Amino acid sequence: MFMKIMTTVGIMGIFLATSGFAQTTLKEAFKNDFLIGAALNEAAFTGQNINAVALIKTQFNTISPENVLKWESIHPKPDQYDFSAADRYVEFGQKNKMFIVGHTLVWHNQTPKWVFQDDQGNPVDRDTLLKRMHKHISTVVGRYKGKIGGWDVVNEALNEDGTLRDSPWEKIIGEDYLLKAYQFAHEADPQAELYYNDYSLENAPKQNGAVALIKKLQAQGVPITAVGLQGHYKMDWPGPQQVDATIQAFSKLGVKVMITELDLDVLPPATRSQAAEVSMNFALQAKLNPYTNGLPDAVQQTLAKRYADLFAVFVQHHDTISRVTFWGVTDGDSWLNNWPVKGRAAHPLLFNRDGKPKPAFNAVIQTSKLPQDLQKLM
Ligand code: G3I
Repeated sequence: MFMKIMTTVGIMGIFLATSGFAQTTLKEAFKNDFLIGAALNEAAFTGQNINAVALIKTQFNTISPENVLKWESIHPKPDQYDFSAADRYVEFGQKNKMFIVGHTLVWHNQTPKWVFQDDQGNPVDRDTLLKRMHKHISTVVGRYKGKIGGWDVVNEALNEDGTLRDSPWEKIIGEDYLLKAYQFAHEADPQAELYYNDYSLENAPKQNGAVALIKKLQAQGVPITAVGLQGHYKMDWPGPQQVDATIQAFSKLGVKVMITELDLDVLPPATRSQAAEVSMNFALQAKLNPYTNGLPDAVQQTLAKRYADLFAVFVQHHDTISRVTFWGVTDGDSWLNNWPVKGRAAHPLLFNRDGKPKPAFNAVIQTSKLPQDLQKLM
């Protein structure tokens, strides 16, 4: 039955994507399924990128901050906060009546070195780092209490084998840094949703590690609202059934599932790794950057079908999935233009560099209109 749904959706998706069917908007199409949004860079929420602003307002009902709420952006020095950009991000969300996401409080990336060091550059002790974490979280979450609806409290705490990443947080505080981070966030805003966010949770070893982590936090009284599957997917990984099984695995824990950073890398892989590990980078070569003049139609159609297959699974699990967020608004905004190869022309999203919908947009919209008989089967 699952395959029947997939096939029907896939055929429909391609047909309708090429037939230029009259379109609704993403937020309208999925209003009975889940919130749908995008990660915003500063040019988007400050209004500099007028294309992006128009798309965000018409297509989305939730926003995430690509970078401006990360530790390095808002807390660059021990006693210096800079909320100028973050405040504008939150104001944009409030003005447009959107669900505002906070990303991210505790991460091993984009966190200034001073957080983990004393004045001589030596690692601080557990109590000092816990105090710094507590101060940061209570200041940041407290500032946006009642405005930011949910936080990626901890981001990417696991290795690919499901063990805890050997980050400075883990090395200095110990594994209970996660418990403390969630406790501090909940204390600062008891109404805010609390998320655990990571990539490659579709792979069994890491998924098992995340399931164990969530169960442990729940046993310690942490009110985890949802798990974020980042969704930095390839054209051949993960398969729809793998995503289906992943959603089911986390749903069994009594938490919601969100797709938090969705994009599909259509470019030739520079590595066999599936990890969205930001530290990876490779030299630019023509063979890794074949679509500098736009996507050929055949690739547009392959991208359309891939998105349609994934959204069919999301719609099927609309009772569990609370949000789907794309990691960027248009192809030109995507981090994949510079990762893992700097200077590529990436095409991972639903809107092209001119802000125009690609065939994948039509295909995604159509998955929300599956014929009733198919919806009933889901
Ligand atoms: O702010 C500096 C700027 O001053 C400088 O001139 C410029 C030139 O190097 O760099 C700017 O910082 C860049 C930052 O984005 C803000 O634009 C960093 O170099 C760049 O590495 C950083 O990339 C971000 C990446 O996280 C870093 O970890 C991407 O934009 C962002 O999309 C990406 O997002 C992450 C999520 O937070 C977590 N999940 C994975 C996802 C993709 O890596």
